[in-house]
Amino acid sequence: MPSERTLSIIKPDATRRNLTGRINALFEEKGLRIIAQKRLQLTQAQAEAFYAVHKARPFFKDLVTFMISGPVVAQVLEGENAVAKNREVMGATDPKKAEQGTIRALHAESIEANSVHGSDSAENAAQEIAFFFAGIDIVG
Ligand code: CMP
Repeated sequence: MPSERTLSIIKPDATRRNLTGRINALFEEKGLRIIAQKRLQLTQAQAEAFYAVHKARPFFKDLVTFMISGPVVAQVLEGENAVAKNREVMGATDPKKAEQGTIRALHAESIEANSVHGSDSAENAAQEIAFFFAGIDIVG
């Protein structure tokens, strides 16, 4: 399996509780390499643009409010099968359904405040990486 890249976001519920290092350790233990990373405060327009695909969903407005409620850490993860591997490490969107030992089972507060985001396909990963990072920011 060739090396792949995916976009990860450590969400405001996790940065608020100072969990960035613990979450990063879980990525690294599972063989994902953090090849770009920055902490930033999203604006409302940026959060709406990032989650545009969910615009029609009932949770969209609350999701945007939550995502701008504090800093996030955007990162590019690289490794074999990185998109699927990251989704495995994160666990299910709803922490009640997440497998034991996953980031969301360990740390998420709710389906909304679920600590991390990860791209759901290689195609979306490329778009989401380009949303946050220029090529020069990524050192593989
Ligand atoms: P994420 O992987 O970032 O993609 C969309 C986000 O919407 C999701 O994680 C959750 O944080 C949030 N969300 C809030 N409510 C729901 C819901 N009912 N179903 C799916 N996602 C939800």
